[in-house]
Amino acid sequence: MTSPSPITTATAAIPNRKKLFIRTWGCQMNVYDSTRMADVLAPLGYGPAETPEEADMVILNTCHIREKASEKVFSDLGRLRLLKNEKEAAGQKMVLAVAGCVAQAEGAEITARAPWVDIVLGPQTYHRLPEMVARASRAAGAQIDTDFPVEQKFDLLPEVSANQGPIAFLTIQEGCDKFCSFCVVPYTRGAEFSRPVAAILAEAKRLVAGGAREIALLGQNVNAWHGEAPDGSSWTLSRLLYELAEIDGLARLRYTTSHPRDMDDALIGAHGRIPALMPFLHLPVQSGSDKMLAAMNRQHKAELFFRTADKLREARPDMALSSDFIVGHPGETDADHAATMALVEKVGFALAYSFKYSSRPGTPAAGQPLQVAEAVKDARLQELQALLRQQQDDFNRACVGRECEILFTGPGRHPGQVAGRTPWLQPVHVMAPAHWAGRLGKVRIDAAHPNSLSATLLSEKELATA
Ligand code: 5AD
Ligand code: SF4
Repeated sequence: MTSPSPITTATAAIPNRKKLFIRTWGCQMNVYDSTRMADVLAPLGYGPAETPEEADMVILNTCHIREKASEKVFSDLGRLRLLKNEKEAAGQKMVLAVAGCVAQAEGAEITARAPWVDIVLGPQTYHRLPEMVARASRAAGAQIDTDFPVEQKFDLLPEVSANQGPIAFLTIQEGCDKFCSFCVVPYTRGAEFSRPVAAILAEAKRLVAGGAREIALLGQNVNAWHGEAPDGSSWTLSRLLYELAEIDGLARLRYTTSHPRDMDDALIGAHGRIPALMPFLHLPVQSGSDKMLAAMNRQHKAELFFRTADKLREARPDMALSSDFIVGHPGETDADHAATMALVEKVGFALAYSFKYSSRPGTPAAGQPLQVAEAVKDARLQELQALLRQQQDDFNRACVGRECEILFTGPGRHPGQVAGRTPWLQPVHVMAPAHWAGRLGKVRIDAAHPNSLSATLLSEKELATA
């Protein structure tokens, strides 16, 4: 779920003396981490900068999941070196930091190739950022802090900013112990860690008090979450969802990203019993071939995915699924690819992300024989994406004429419009008063466009929360 272009994080508007610019690549987890880095630096007097030019500190929060990511970081660092030199010539200082997964995986290389970088830090050490910034502003030379320390970083971070808007993200779990053959996450994000129940509930309540109506729980392996409860027992994700659904004013819940192996019956059942749990689940399967699932070390067969999809739809008939796919993993034959196509046909997806396998140094798949030729990968990806696109269009078109509840999030595309999200995460644009942002309303879907829907507001009154 990475995005090709960087996302600029707006940091909290507080009185400040210094300016911070964060450039974020990648997944929602990275966007969340950028917000938290801004939070830990706020007490040092750092407020938001619009551009690197006006910043006293620039953080590149990087993503390593796709190839060429590190090259983009190095070319950005080249540009920032010139800016840093200009500032120094004018008697100003600029602290330059590289965070995220590229920092984790290639910390030593960054220090060697870009010695003008002041701080290199991995995802587990953000709470130490203020200390590192203080030291970097005094001393010259880069510092590396990419070890996985034993302290739990969440406990050491200040509370997250409460005003994320109507849709808020809450990280409940980090790291991954699954070790899929192709994936860098277990190496860059470290071992699985679940936040305790009390910390999550407290943060959720703060988010709701700050205006959130929908909370998306985040984690690399979110449905493997098992947090300690105040009485010392261990809760599973379904138990946590029941508890979160009780929070007054919280209307919608989601969680992402899940692994098929951790979709237990209690969690599937929760989809039928918790109205606030939205009928949309991102459940990456990667391949439809049992042989490839084994080669990928996914630890389940296609059959488990079929059964899980069926059970989810039994529990919640309007359930829509989204997934991730990789084509061209080492050893993938035409027959394996055909099995993936058949899985897609059989399950049907409202949304999906599909990628050509790209070799990540250090992962088991990188060293495997039978790497698939680039042209073959291209052809398979094209075929798969055409089918997924068609399913997405069909799903969106099937919504036309339907009445549904949407959460209004902010200004729409055109004047007079307010944008919102359907229960199935589709962006939707509605003619409505601007102050509807943050409310829930009933709409009728009028039309499906390539990446959004348009709709008419039906109720003049805000809907009661779940
Ligand atoms: N090559 C291609 N796609 C990958 N993903 C993760 N690692 C790789 C890789 N080496 C995809 C998976 C995962 C998503 C976030 O990115 O589909 O679910
Ligand atoms: Fe990577 Fe697999 Fe873990 Fe997902 S489950 S983060 S793909 S190792």
